[in-house]
Amino acid sequence: MERFSSISMAVVRRLPKYHRYLSELKKNDVKRVSSQELSRITGFTASQIRQDLNCFGGFGQQGYGYNVDDLHQQISKILGLDKVYKTVIVGAGNLGQAIVNYTFFEKSGFVPQAIFDVNPRLIGLKINDIKVHDVENLESFVKDNGIDIGIICTPKSQCQKVAEALAKGGVQGIWNFAPSDVSVPDDIIVENVHLSESLFTISYLLKEREEVLKTKKY
Ligand code: NAI
Repeated sequence: MERFSSISMAVVRRLPKYHRYLSELKKNDVKRVSSQELSRITGFTASQIRQDLNCFGGFGQQGYGYNVDDLHQQISKILGLDKVYKTVIVGAGNLGQAIVNYTFFEKSGFVPQAIFDVNPRLIGLKINDIKVHDVENLESFVKDNGIDIGIICTPKSQCQKVAEALAKGGVQGIWNFAPSDVSVPDDIIVENVHLSESLFTISYLLKEREEVLKTKKY
């Protein structure tokens, strides 16, 4: 994947978390927040937060902290959330349908334009008002409608073929849920999602706690 700045991916991956907590603070009408308070709610150290935000110019004031509305707006801009992205979902099964029905993505600016599937029983149906098309037309639809992001929710065996059609159509990004990496030209941003990684982290922490408690008993 081609990168255009020296901001580390570790910083990039913390930004959505800052954004989420700031959205909550905004919703609760909190007007300002210190880096210590942000540290308490995000779990990152205050100096880490200051360092991260300094990568983009820093937004706080000594002795005042951060203005919640301003910081939220700045991080939205940094994340590119002040734009609208056209998306397509490929695979109208359990996951594809869940994504289309979860309106938060659309509210955040990721607007689904169409769903694609191979199953003739699904083609032609509407899910949350979005039509399911034949995957045969994926590449031309992406091209004709200037689709920015393709979301892959097909079985593993199909994801490479789908990624190639999305790439040929001209998407800029692929959000891949299939449990296999896809190979596409370097200028396409690919983000692979594995819910299992988060779940297995819980399992690790449960096991760790169990082992520590066991040793404390004896
Ligand atoms: P599902 O079987 O309910 O849906 C898959 C859909 O893809 C079906 O409607 C099928 O007709 C369609 N399909 C098959 N080949 C296709 C092709 N060439 N083009 C377009 N559509 C095609 O499966 P489910 O549960 O929705 O899972 C979808 C994928 O997401 C699977 O690969 C699964 O392993 C993965 N998954 C990943 C998760 C993660 O955390 N990354 C979590 C859950 C599922």
